[in-house]
Order: sequence, then C-alpha cells, then structure tokens
Amino acid sequence: VLEDHESASRHVAGLLVETINRHSPDTSGLCTLGLATGSTPLSVYENLCRRYQSGEVSFQGITTFNLDEYVGLPPEHPQSYLAYMRTNLFDHVDLDRSKTHLPAAHQIDDSHSAEAISRRYESEIENAGGIDWQLLGIGVNGHIGFNEPGATIDSPTRLVDLAASTIEANSRFFESTDQVPKQAITMGIGTILKARKIVLLATGAAKAEAVAAAINGPVTSDNPASFLQTHSDVLFVLDREAASAI
Ligand code: GLP
Repeated sequence: VLEDHESASRHVAGLLVETINRHSPDTSGLCTLGLATGSTPLSVYENLCRRYQSGEVSFQGITTFNLDEYVGLPPEHPQSYLAYMRTNLFDHVDLDRSKTHLPAAHQIDDSHSAEAISRRYESEIENAGGIDWQLLGIGVNGHIGFNEPGATIDSPTRLVDLAASTIEANSRFFESTDQVPKQAITMGIGTILKARKIVLLATGAAKAEAVAAAINGPVTSDNPASFLQTHSDVLFVLDREAASAI
C-alpha cells in the first residue's frame, strides 16, 4: 500500500523496469508482458516512457499482449485500446511493433468469427512462451480485463458482453453512453491465471470495495478478481484509498 496514485504507479513502473532488465537480450533474451488499459495504468506508461528516454530501460526483445479490445471500434478510433497503447506507450519506446499484440476484435466479420480470433490470440500467447508478467487494473465490479461478474475461473479468451456498470463507467471516454461498445474480446480468467507473475494496480476510493472483496472475500464469479487468490504469485499495488476497505 503506497500513499497515492503517483507513488503506486511509480512503484509498478519500477517493478516492470526491473523485470525487463532482468530479461534483457543479453540474459535470457525473452520477456513477454501482459498489458492493461484504462485510466489506472496511464501514469505507469508515462513513467516507463520517461525511463526509456533517460536510457534506464529498453524494450528490445520484449513481446506484449494486451488484455482486451472493444468490438465495433475501428483500430484507428481514438478510444480503441490499440490507439490507447500507441498513444501512451508503443509510439514512444523501442518496442518492435510486430511483437505487440491486442485481440483483433476489429477483424470480426462473416469470415472471421470472434471464436477463431480468440483462439488465435490464445495460440499466439502460447507460441510466445506464455506471459511472464501480467499487469491488471480492476473494475468497480471486480472485473479484470473485461471478465465481468459471472466469468468462470477457466474461461479462455473470448467474446463478452460488457456489464451495464462497465458501460456506464467507460462512458466518460465517449461522447455519450450510446457510443460505448457493448462487447469486447478479452483474455479469460484462465488465460490471466497462466501468467507467471501478476501485478494488479488499483487506486482511488471507487475501487476499495472491489479490492477488499477480491482479497478477503470468497473465491467467486461474483468478483472475478477474487480468482487471483488461487494464483501463487500475485501482488496488489494500492494507494491508501483503494486499500481503505481491506
Ligand atoms: C476497463 C478495462 C480494464 C480496467 C478497468 C478499470 O474497462 N477493460 O482492464 O482495469 O476497466 O478501468 P480504470 O482503470 O479506468 O478504472
């Protein structure tokens, strides 16, 4: 538990830099990161960009997989998660763009089913050797990625409907609630739990209940983040407000 959003974000960025440098091309040569979107990790990415510019870290040799992508937004839409990743990280660091991945939700059409696109994403993760280090945020209803309440512990990458509370929460990024996509492709809980290390960042009082239920409550589909209790290497990085109900 750290003081505020900035110090929690700085801490997570520091952990990421350590992880990347431990796996730098002169050592094992491979590091696969799982990345998250939303407003919470923005300062983490800002911090990483600064550390890249100062020569503290290089992303050469790094592969990334994002948790999720909206269905129904073209990739160039400013609120697509691809646009978010480009704007906040990919365009500012030396990541090899062919090694960055998001679910290709914009490719869904008559000949490309969401199931096929989801299966392909799972295989890409497996072929990359699995995820070494997964960053997560948490929704006010305990969702991780877009695994809304009701998601099962072994769920794979798949097409999901967004909960009404998620559409409402994310409407702040759109002109109106009507414009918020109603579906997404998300890594499943099963996919997330295969990551070797998981770091969940949550800040602000709005997340306090979801965080407390995830840590102290029963392991239940009602709070998908509670499934993290079954993983052997999970770290919650919180500010005081997000930790206030634990
Ligand atoms: C979004 C994302 C999640 C994110 C969560 C919280 O909808 N799909 O990955 O963790 O909701 O978002 P925020 O950080 O903006 O509160």
